[in-house]
Amino acid sequence: MDTTRLPIVATLTALREWENAHTRHISTASSHNSGGNPMTTMRQIQLTEWGDESVLHEANVPIPSPVRGHVLIKTVAAGVNPIDVTTRKGLGPAAQLADPSYKPFVPGWDVAGTVVATAGDYTGFKVGDGVFGLVSFPSPAGAYAEYVLAPAHQLVKVPADVPCAQLGGAPLAALTAYQALFEVARLKEGERVLIHAGAGGVGHLAVQLAAQAGAQVFATASAANHEFVRSLGAQPIDYRTEDFRAVLGQTMDVVLNSTGQQTFLDSLEVLVPGGRIITLTSPDPLDVARERGFEAQWLTVHPDRTQMQEIARLMSLGLLKVHVDQVLDFSQAAQAHALVATGRTRGKIVLVP
Ligand SMILES: NC(=O)c1ccc[n+]([C@@H]2O[C@H](COP(=O)([O-])OP(=O)(O)OC[C@H]3O[C@@H](n4cnc5c(N)ncnc54)[C@H](OP(=O)(O)O)[C@@H]3O)[C@@H](O)[C@H]2O)c1
Repeated sequence: MDTTRLPIVATLTALREWENAHTRHISTASSHNSGGNPMTTMRQIQLTEWGDESVLHEANVPIPSPVRGHVLIKTVAAGVNPIDVTTRKGLGPAAQLADPSYKPFVPGWDVAGTVVATAGDYTGFKVGDGVFGLVSFPSPAGAYAEYVLAPAHQLVKVPADVPCAQLGGAPLAALTAYQALFEVARLKEGERVLIHAGAGGVGHLAVQLAAQAGAQVFATASAANHEFVRSLGAQPIDYRTEDFRAVLGQTMDVVLNSTGQQTFLDSLEVLVPGGRIITLTSPDPLDVARERGFEAQWLTVHPDRTQMQEIARLMSLGLLKVHVDQVLDFSQAAQAHALVATGRTRGKIVLVP
């Protein structure tokens, strides 16, 4: 963790204590009622109306019961993603969540924690297993809660010795990076790839994955993030003071865009003939790229257990590290959303119960 960016809620010592406590908890807990007094309610961050951060509030609700194919997870960490902010505003997936039965809506799709109950059917997990994953996306998952009911097939066991804040921050961003580079762009060893927003949640993981795959990696970032991006394996380009088209010429096999339409159009100028451009932001003009002979795809991330297993394997080997910018308490969910909305965070913001 970058010690120059200490969590707002904790001193570094307190965070380490928290991580130690939760790392033990995530691997050894055997029951969510270990005190003998069954807990029936839990804390949850919810909203009843779409809107600004102020709509997020804490509620005490019944702990869900496990249903077939699902496990009940006691949350240790929940990642915050830009899509959480978009949804909270009533945009993006929220359009499909107009059904009043989705209210109150509980944000969050990234969860890491301990299995505390199953429905008794075979899920591949047992009580006490540490698990993490991208849950139910884009249907509601309710990860900003002390307990999360999650489809077992979207979870994998946590890798040993990885701090739980990293685990909570990993799933959506790491799967997005993985799917963009390998499922859609089919990135190969020796290719040249430009990753826009290389210091962001998706970008910093994409840089590591691409470098790990043997690609030559370039990444746009502001100057303050150049050392960080370089340490992950990319050659940084300052998008504020440099024109990446002039720096790179027409030499990129693959571009990963997440910074909007103008960057998408400018990026076509750095692609080799027949190059591939993957975008995470909509509506980028894919047709313009295709008319010029490029492969252009828009990606929507999806849960994928096999890919999560590979992500967990890379994390366990120390080959993929989630940079945790700040760890905040559930009660600071509004603050977490405000931070993510700045578009300036480095790596991930993570909430803890
Ligand atoms: N389609 C999908 O399935 C999918 C999945 C995940 C994410 N997304 C979208 O992809 C985008 C990125 O997600 P994220 O989680 O990585 O966001 P994020 O963590 O909030 O990104 C923050 C980073 O963006 C960088 N940045 C901001 N403007 C930039 C620019 N013009 N050029 C280069 N870097 C810039 C900032 O670096 P500096 O401080 O150095 O500027 C900061 O480190 C979001 O719009 C998100 O909604 C889509």
